[in-house]
Amino acid sequence: MTVLIDTAFFNAFDQVGPVHHGLPAAAYTRSEFFELESNLLFTASWSFVGFAHQLAKVGDVQPLTVAGKPVFLVRSESDKIRAFHNVCRHRNLKLIDRAGHCDVLITCPYHRWSYDFSGKLRLAPYFGGEKTGLPDGFDLADHGLYEIRCHTFHDWVFINLDGQAEYFDVFIEPLKRQLIGFEPEKFEPVATLDFGEVPANWKLLMENFIEPYHVQYVHKTTTSQPLEDHYVVADEHCLGSAIELTAEQQADAAAGTLGVSSRYLTLFPNFVLGLYYPDQIGVHLNRPVSADTTQQSRVIYLHRDSDHSQAAVEHARQLWDSVHREDHHMCERLQAGRHSSVAEGGGVLSPHWEVSVRRFQELVADAVRPGLEGGI
Ligand code: FES
Ligand SMILES: [Fe+2]
Repeated sequence: MTVLIDTAFFNAFDQVGPVHHGLPAAAYTRSEFFELESNLLFTASWSFVGFAHQLAKVGDVQPLTVAGKPVFLVRSESDKIRAFHNVCRHRNLKLIDRAGHCDVLITCPYHRWSYDFSGKLRLAPYFGGEKTGLPDGFDLADHGLYEIRCHTFHDWVFINLDGQAEYFDVFIEPLKRQLIGFEPEKFEPVATLDFGEVPANWKLLMENFIEPYHVQYVHKTTTSQPLEDHYVVADEHCLGSAIELTAEQQADAAAGTLGVSSRYLTLFPNFVLGLYYPDQIGVHLNRPVSADTTQQSRVIYLHRDSDHSQAAVEHARQLWDSVHREDHHMCERLQAGRHSSVAEGGGVLSPHWEVSVRRFQELVADAVRPGLEGGI
């Protein structure tokens, strides 16, 4: 029997007690719930959507789908990336269909309406009949692209589709607090791992990164980070864990494994950043595609003064490729388990190691609750 997604949907999740339930399985499997998240969560929050260095030159463009909506990014100035609804103002054709470069104007292929990089309509040839003629009362200034709030923090681009989210400075503050003592501006991207589509709901990939509980088991051949040395991070919507290792522990780490002090930080809903002392950062981009599919990539950054040799980069690339694949395997099985009727209650969460997972799930639940009236 299909579970009704209505105001009773979170009853088990909301029960108070020493051990909490997780989100109901249908929150991970049903397209109706995914649609609620698109409309009420990803549209309303600061979604992480891309990497600034991938739009290196003024005029570089990148199309995206965010919360089911066509969007594109453009580097409009050397130090500014803008986001627009990816829709021509003439007959609403999707304007940018692949990542690339525009020399001066962004030109629609259908009737050649052309926009500058700040979204202003500059040309609408023959629209009034003659080559440069415009209909009476038609003003180019009224037909520019619809811009979307967009902020770049270091290399990381965020957008807010509905324009109603908190100020970006307020949103980013908890992450900044956790980064004190680290200088991301001194790190450079050295490699990108593109994992394509992972057959798991976006929340499973986020929750997996947030909790340290699985690391000792799933990553036993790739990491040397004992569970007992971790602590949970739950600073407003900055959620994750961290581990401080002594110099002796770091020296004792198995060769080739990750055995350094680290912070595993997320910013709700979908920003993921790992800090690996003293010289490495990894940022995951998890793009929700559907209820059971998420696109994932990871950019590896090294400190500008550290070893950037091909061997060092290749070592980092191979290590993280293995770690991600170990996680994907678990996330795919988490997804599969949620198709059983016995998973409807959402399992249970450790009151110690999965506190930040619980907080993440509460933020999801609170975002979609207004959409549950009347049921779907
Ligand atoms: S739809 Fe873009 S110019 Fe006609
Ligand atoms: Fe993991």
